[in-house]
Amino acid sequence: MRQTQFLQMFLVVSLAWLGAFLADAEDAYRYFTWTVTYGTISPLGVPQQGILINGQFPGPPIEAVTNDNMVIDVINKLDEPLLLTWNGIQQRKNSWQDGVLGTQCPIPPGTNWTYKFQLKDQIGTFMYFPSTALHRAAGGFGALNIAQRSVIPIPYPTPFGEFTLLVGDWYKSNHTALRQSLDAGNPLPLPDGLLINGRPNGFTFTGQRGQTYKFRVTNVGIATSINFRIQGHNLTLIEIEGSHTLQEEYESLDVHVGQSVTVLVKLNGSPKDYFVACSSRFTKPIFNVTALLRYDGSNIPASLPLPIAPTYQIHWSMKQARTCRLNLTANAARPNPQGSYHYNTIQVVRTLVLANTATKIDGKLRYAVNGISYVDPDTPLKLADYFNIPGVFTLNTIKDTPPSGPATPGTSVVGTTLHDFVEIVLQNTENAIQSWHLDGYSFYAVGYGSGSWTPDMRKRYNMADAIYRHTVQVYPLSWSAILVSLDNKGMWNLRSAILSKRYLGQQLYVRVWNNEKSLLTEYDIPPDALLCGKAKKTS
Ligand SMILES: *[C@@H]1O[C@H](CO)[C@@H](O)[C@H](O)[C@H]1NC(C)=O
Ligand SMILES: *[C@@H]1O[C@H](CO)[C@@H](O)[C@H](O)[C@H]1NC(C)=O
Ligand SMILES: *[C@@H]1O[C@H](CO)[C@@H](O)[C@H](O)[C@H]1NC(C)=O
Ligand SMILES: *[C@@H]1O[C@H](CO)[C@@H](O)[C@H](O)[C@H]1NC(C)=O
Ligand SMILES: *[C@@H]1O[C@H](CO)[C@@H](O)[C@H](O)[C@H]1NC(C)=O
Repeated sequence: MRQTQFLQMFLVVSLAWLGAFLADAEDAYRYFTWTVTYGTISPLGVPQQGILINGQFPGPPIEAVTNDNMVIDVINKLDEPLLLTWNGIQQRKNSWQDGVLGTQCPIPPGTNWTYKFQLKDQIGTFMYFPSTALHRAAGGFGALNIAQRSVIPIPYPTPFGEFTLLVGDWYKSNHTALRQSLDAGNPLPLPDGLLINGRPNGFTFTGQRGQTYKFRVTNVGIATSINFRIQGHNLTLIEIEGSHTLQEEYESLDVHVGQSVTVLVKLNGSPKDYFVACSSRFTKPIFNVTALLRYDGSNIPASLPLPIAPTYQIHWSMKQARTCRLNLTANAARPNPQGSYHYNTIQVVRTLVLANTATKIDGKLRYAVNGISYVDPDTPLKLADYFNIPGVFTLNTIKDTPPSGPATPGTSVVGTTLHDFVEIVLQNTENAIQSWHLDGYSFYAVGYGSGSWTPDMRKRYNMADAIYRHTVQVYPLSWSAILVSLDNKGMWNLRSAILSKRYLGQQLYVRVWNNEKSLLTEYDIPPDALLCGKAKKTS
């Protein structure tokens, strides 16, 4: 017994050090070298400084397969420290590679660092983006598409082809100008427009009449929810952020900041061009952007009007959100049905009610969660933990329910135990849409409601087939509830996906912990981990 354990341990350690992370031998490795630079781009007709990866805006798309091992060498040629984060990639046992300031030191200008992680048991439409210093407002983001392994069936007929749409709001101001405005205590203005794949209009997707195509749609914006639709065609929803959904038909779909949906579209119209339209939600005025769906060989241009979109209606969106449900008999990345995890039978051990507020600290606009407006310490939390460096953070300074009193700056870390099953209620006290993202996990988005959440609202939760996802919207003056099984040890960022709010403090970390040090629950620090802050002196 002891010997087996020792052998197991030995094997694990050797493998871990050989590959720097665990991987099955058959899983492919994909190597990338990405040079990140500034470059002039003019997506809205005005030249401005953008952030390019290998000269591209948006950055290069990653087309991968479940369980692929990613080796991505990022060369930072910006004049500011840089990190890239992999939105929705769970980084199992591996928050070391998550690419946020709570887990990693940023890559200094003029240097490079190589991310190594596995796309373990994940499938679907994801994205990556720079997580530091408002860089994302200037670019550096791109698609991260994960296809199924050849041995795993998908619960829909194989599409003839697929298209990726990165849709987002855009500002003509560069990221340093936007940052200066936020640092001065001003909110961001409305964006100047919307882009699809970096273009204000006219991006063209060409398909064959009679065939069905997969459209992968991600909201890569920094502030604005969008509605997506295609003239003359319905959308069959198949996947949301890694979960296969009931295949319902929609005329249009709302996609909030940081979220992804995948739909099938059958090209069964008459041969011509059709508008692919995206409009802003909950803004006045409404912004529109179009792309074209061209039937191959057609030369009949698309004709106005654009297909109609919902305007301000919040309830329309909330109702639609409730219709998106898991297909319990479909598999996801693994062959077992998604419904085999009966979250309705698991005891919630802790409820966190997290209220976001807009506030002023020292006369300047800040955003807070339960009265604490997050400030990044110089030392990543994960390194403080690893090297036992005191004075970086204190667990649970943030309360489990919203306290009264003014907000203060702080470094919020919620301490939890590995395998806790937790209910998190996101209470939005602002009259603005929110979008919340949790790194390292998917969670069940079980409820949406108006007004203030009370325990009574649990009766309204979807305890059967709620979507298992990584980003949830919270409507103005409303709440959303999620359930999450904290089975991934590490330090995980819970943040507003709305960039200015995150930048001004609407985020925190969840430390998922047990005292047993084992490579079976968490990988060791990468040998080449960058060290900074107080971690630098220790080593
Ligand atoms: C960013 O925008 C500001 C304000 O318009 C401008 O002064 C500055 O030169 C711009 N920076 C770059 C590098 O383009
Ligand atoms: C990245 O940096 C390492 C040294 O830290 C160096 O050996 C390697 O060649 C660099 N890679 C690239 C692509 O610049
Ligand atoms: C759910 O998935 C099953 C199994 O793959 C599939 O046969 C069925 O059509 C799906 N149902 C819906 C409503 O999407
Ligand atoms: C789209 O679906 C709706 C019902 O949800 C239906 O009324 C409409 O005819 C469909 N449109 C097309 C183009 O198939
Ligand atoms: C965008 O489209 C909607 C309807 O689709 C329309 O009401 C609105 O005026 C358009 N906005 C602009 C700025 O053209």
